Amino acid sequence: MIYAATTERSIAMVLLAVVVVGWAIYVFVNIRRSKSEIGSEIELAANRGSLPDDEVLEGSRLEQVQAFGVLMLLIIALVLPIYWLREGGRRAGAEVGFGERAAAAGERLAEELECVVCHGADLGGANYAPVVLDIGNQFSDEETYIVKTTWRAPALDTVFARFDTDAENLDEVDEVRQILNYGRGVMPAWGLPGGGPLTSQEVDNLIAWLWRERISDDDASQQALQAKETEMAAHPEKSEGQVLFELHCARCHTPRWPARGPAQLPNNGGEVEVIPGPAGSGRYGPALNAVSLERLFPDIEDQISFITSGAADNVAYGEFARLGNYGMPGFGRILTQEEIRAISEYERSLDQTEQSTVQFAELHTSKDDQ
Ligand code: HEC
Ligand code: HEC
Repeated sequence: MIYAATTERSIAMVLLAVVVVGWAIYVFVNIRRSKSEIGSEIELAANRGSLPDDEVLEGSRLEQVQAFGVLMLLIIALVLPIYWLREGGRRAGAEVGFGERAAAAGERLAEELECVVCHGADLGGANYAPVVLDIGNQFSDEETYIVKTTWRAPALDTVFARFDTDAENLDEVDEVRQILNYGRGVMPAWGLPGGGPLTSQEVDNLIAWLWRERISDDDASQQALQAKETEMAAHPEKSEGQVLFELHCARCHTPRWPARGPAQLPNNGGEVEVIPGPAGSGRYGPALNAVSLERLFPDIEDQISFITSGAADNVAYGEFARLGNYGMPGFGRILTQEEIRAISEYERSLDQTEQSTVQFAELHTSKDDQ
């Protein structure tokens, strides 16, 4: 497709060159001729040559010209409809090609920007990305600490099963564009509106790439089911609601949940282990517990339907008419209603006082441990 376009362009360039050179020769020859004509108008005047007589002019000559006119008319009448008939196909072809080229450009960009380093080469989100984390002054009254640790990034091949769940094509993608433009949590902003390096065209290319890489809802819910079963078998003491909450919700609603492993304290060379804060006590998303949820959704059914469809930008939800802000994804496409009910019940069992007291006590320096 790309090649066809360039071949056409080079043919057109050759034609253009022929026409331009032809005109130049014509003008040159004409000027020379007109110079040698000076003073000889009488012999050379056009109306003094021998012309056909009226019989020929109004007979065969006229018919020739008319026939030529009809031929030209036929060509126009036939060629234009044929051109028009093929126009739809040409446009559809251009669109398909455009989407493919945009996705390929997005893929190159993603390699350059190392999206896959954090999100996993298969976009399954299995990677722990190195991050620098501000953990405040948990180890000392005077100093605040910046630790280096690793942070689990979410899967990207299922991002359209959570966000922009109503989008049927690229034009309707809105939430993922917002996330890429303004960044999210520990992920920096990529688009110019959020102070990032990418133009809106480049962000569109990344979206086209993510769109191309998305897996079907069936595959996504199958994956979710498998993850749940593995986790429940490994931790029989946990309820289904807790397991599902940890798999799908904790990364946004529990402090430091995605952080893992030992972290270095550059300030004094010590090492700390980063442990998540109390379940559901709030991170990027607000704190969820018995008190807050019973106020927001007196009827658990409303909470279930909110989690099913997620929050839409600037659309009110719950009792205090809170406005969504591109944050809360919808889970209706990968979790069943029974699973969402189990999570809702788990969330409604979380204790507010517990959440507020043990916020930081779980972090400890390994030096203290020894
Ligand atoms: C430094 C690691 C890192 C890099 C590089 C990175 N991301 Fe992210 N990304 C994250 C993390 C972590 C999150 C989740 C936010 C959080 O946990 O604070 C995220 C969230 C997202 C989300 C939202 C998904 C969701 O379900 O919440 C999208 C979409 C996304 N990233 C796309 C990209 C693209 C496209 C690139 C490359 C241009 C990229 N990311 C590069 C770490 C990274
Ligand atoms: C990508 C981050 C993210 C994930 C994952 C996420 N949430 Fe949220 N959640 C939010 C944000 C942000 C809000 C606030 C509304 C907004 O800005 O859209 C929110 C709001 C909520 C609320 C309303 C609470 C309030 O006080 O307004 C509930 C309930 C909720 N989430 C439950 C869940 C459940 C259950 C899951 C997992 C199945 C989940 N969330 C996963 C980010 C997330």
